[in-house]
Amino acid sequence: MAVFGGACRLLQLSRCGSRVGASASARIRCRCSATAAALDSPPAPKSQDNRKPKTGILMLNMGGPEKLEDVHGFLLRLFMDTDLMQLPVQNKLGPFIAKRRTPKIQEQYSKIGGGSPIRAWTTLQGQGMVTLLDDMCPDTAPHKFYIGFRYVHPLTEEAIEEMEKDGVERAVAFTQYPQYSCSTTGSSLNAIYRYYNSRAVRPKMRWSVIDRWPTHPLLIECFAQHVLNELERFPPEKRDDVVILFSAHSLPLSVVNRGDPYPQEVGATVQRVMERLGHCNPYRLVWQSKVGPMPWLGPQTDEVIKGLCHRGKKNLLLVPIAFTSDHIETLHELDIEYSKILGEECGVENIRRAESLNGNPLFFKALADLVQTHLKTDETCSRQLTLPCPLCVNPTCAEAKAFFANQKH
Ligand code: FES
Repeated sequence: MAVFGGACRLLQLSRCGSRVGASASARIRCRCSATAAALDSPPAPKSQDNRKPKTGILMLNMGGPEKLEDVHGFLLRLFMDTDLMQLPVQNKLGPFIAKRRTPKIQEQYSKIGGGSPIRAWTTLQGQGMVTLLDDMCPDTAPHKFYIGFRYVHPLTEEAIEEMEKDGVERAVAFTQYPQYSCSTTGSSLNAIYRYYNSRAVRPKMRWSVIDRWPTHPLLIECFAQHVLNELERFPPEKRDDVVILFSAHSLPLSVVNRGDPYPQEVGATVQRVMERLGHCNPYRLVWQSKVGPMPWLGPQTDEVIKGLCHRGKKNLLLVPIAFTSDHIETLHELDIEYSKILGEECGVENIRRAESLNGNPLFFKALADLVQTHLKTDETCSRQLTLPCPLCVNPTCAEAKAFFANQKH
């Protein structure tokens, strides 16, 4: 079963509920979910202005349930997404699994404040981005951002409908995953293609795509700043001993072996961040959220924490490197399961987690710069997007790629 992102995390969480909530040792320095939620709650969003937008920027992501009542709908869409996973008799098994898992997943979300903060953070980031863009690019203004989630409202299809209704002339599909995977960005792009194909209509807007940005200089700067901020919080005498663990969501090897570019692109991000930091500390790229008996890309984050502690390396800094906003994998998996519970079991001295990019104004600038550069080059998509995975078996991928590559400019 090919699963990614919140999908497999949710599968996993449903099996570890009993461990959550155990007390943490006082000597473990970690950002627990309660602390993170209190410190990092996104401010209430402001509404966008009413001018008719010339350029619409569709921010693509999988999304997360904002309220406990949204969990079932989220799971249902997720288990029915054939771009993300293939199940036998999916139209029957998908709803069955979603229904069965809902209570446990609701319990997990209740432990990180009752829902996912991803919509609130994306709204804040979108507002920061379009405010900058209106100043930076008067020719393409007014700019309006739209949020297109795969598994919760506002859904990608709803956002496209709104964009068409608003009379947007120029539409940019902007993935919020810096590193491309067919399971994440690919699934969102396939959804845009299906929207038009299933209605047999042509877009009124001219579409193009920002499909990956793993080494954008301002993205790298943001990650580097957040690593430095967190390193500062270690006791000075321990700082040089800290091992930096860049943690990204893992993938089943069956997906990797199709030729998915994600592992290489995550590696590129890590390499640039460490170059920017002057290789100040030893580091590893590790992979979290594996689930099920099939082989996944490793080494696994939790195994690495155990292995390092066992070898006397007990000062660890976790850095989420493949998502830009907080979500269940940072607030629950990294903060509670690994930093608090596992850290205590392993006898770590200090374990911390670098803050997600969330409300960092430099990150808004990174997003605006990506869009500005993209609009100037007038590319429909990256060259990389035009090449399907060499062992792809999903016919929609090629059709979606052709849809974007053939947009006339
Ligand atoms: S799975 Fe990668 S192009 Fe289809």
